[in-house]
Amino acid sequence: MSASQGQQKAWGGVFREPTDKRVEAFSESVSFDRRLADDDIDGSIAHARMLAACGLMTVPEADAISQTLEEIRRQIADGQFEFTAAKEDIHLHIEAALTARLGDAGRKLHTARSRNDQVATDLRLYCRRAIDRLDQGLLALQQAFLGFALREQGLIIPGYTHMRRAQPVLAAHQLLAWCEKFQRDRDRLADCRKRTNVLPLGSGALAGTTLPIDRDHVKDALGFAAVAANSLDGASDRDFVCELAFVIALAGVHCSQWAEEWVLYSTQEFGFLLLPEGFCTGSSIMPQKINPDVLELVRGKSARSIGNLQSLLVLLKGLPTAYNRDLQEDKEAIFDSIDTLEAVLGVAAPLVAGSSFDHDRIAATIDRGHLDATSLMEALIASGVPQRTAHELVGTFVRRAMTRGVSLAELADQEFLQDYAGWNAALRSALGASRAVERMVSFGSTAPSQVADQIAAWQRRLMKEPGAAARA
Ligand code: ARG
Repeated sequence: MSASQGQQKAWGGVFREPTDKRVEAFSESVSFDRRLADDDIDGSIAHARMLAACGLMTVPEADAISQTLEEIRRQIADGQFEFTAAKEDIHLHIEAALTARLGDAGRKLHTARSRNDQVATDLRLYCRRAIDRLDQGLLALQQAFLGFALREQGLIIPGYTHMRRAQPVLAAHQLLAWCEKFQRDRDRLADCRKRTNVLPLGSGALAGTTLPIDRDHVKDALGFAAVAANSLDGASDRDFVCELAFVIALAGVHCSQWAEEWVLYSTQEFGFLLLPEGFCTGSSIMPQKINPDVLELVRGKSARSIGNLQSLLVLLKGLPTAYNRDLQEDKEAIFDSIDTLEAVLGVAAPLVAGSSFDHDRIAATIDRGHLDATSLMEALIASGVPQRTAHELVGTFVRRAMTRGVSLAELADQEFLQDYAGWNAALRSALGASRAVERMVSFGSTAPSQVADQIAAWQRRLMKEPGAAARA
């Protein structure tokens, strides 16, 4: 092994033997961290400008570095850049390309910087951009649900618990329930963005630097809200990655729950929902099939995000203070989580926008399952009957209706009077799905006035606002 071979590596000086090819293949990350290129270049330009401001390089050197990095950025974007496992990762690739063009000026860029604080910075920039895109994707999905709720105002559907008919609800109420969940996901994104938006650069490898740098200069240039206050933690903290992975996993779970519900609602058996055909696929053997594969994949893909979260937590659990190479394994997991949710959101919003309820099918079966039993029980309570007594009485009425195969409303007054002498017309007016809905009064309930208020509130919130995370 000659000295020149050792010099080919950015860290080769001390080595007497070349890196084993198998080790190069094993340890490279450029095959996946090349997607940090833009963030790496942004970070390097800010770093070079700071070095010039602090007298650690000249302004013309910083200018030349910035200009050349922009050329490299374009080359990478155009697919004109050559990647090789021998150069390990995206950071060394870009630095090598810079040095090849600029010579000594390029060799100054890594002043007061380590790849440890560099990769931490790049990943924070990457995740920050991803958070803002995901927020917009979730906003679009909320808007699709809100749009659907607006189209379906007035429609009553059966509400289920335990997948058994429970109480009638407005379809709009059920659709807005998804807006609530996705709003919490967006709030969590905005919250996790705060801890992502902290600058590690300047932490050095672990201890900081003896050189007179200005970390605030870099912080301001890159739009970070704060500077990491402990260099050991700054260079190795990946909590923000885990947080984002969790937020994505939970949003994925919400998407999965929604997909599961809609797979059911669009079956022939339920017949509630009509899915847009462009978002269904067919069978290669059964000519009649129109399958909800998109919803099934939305449901299925949540598994990956849950797995990625698990991988990240396990990755971190055994690490002592400061950077360990294990941390390189964080990227594929978080990239996959981000890609997966973006892909899901990309199809979910248009699928919702193109769907409709089958009003005739729903109306034909809305009186099945005694959805109005609770409404009747509460009418009895309002007239002074203790809840447990009212519950038992209505149970008796329901049993009678079940035995005769009719709805509660179809029972004759005589059949109620048999068990309850106080039966009257006012109690009868609690029966029927639409009356049960209209009689609701509590805040947040499926009462038409409540749902109208909620629709108006979501309209104000979603139609005007930019993404919550984008504001933070
Ligand atoms: N590719 C590495 C990573 O993703 C960059 C940091 C390498 N640092 C080191 N000391 N080897 O973690």
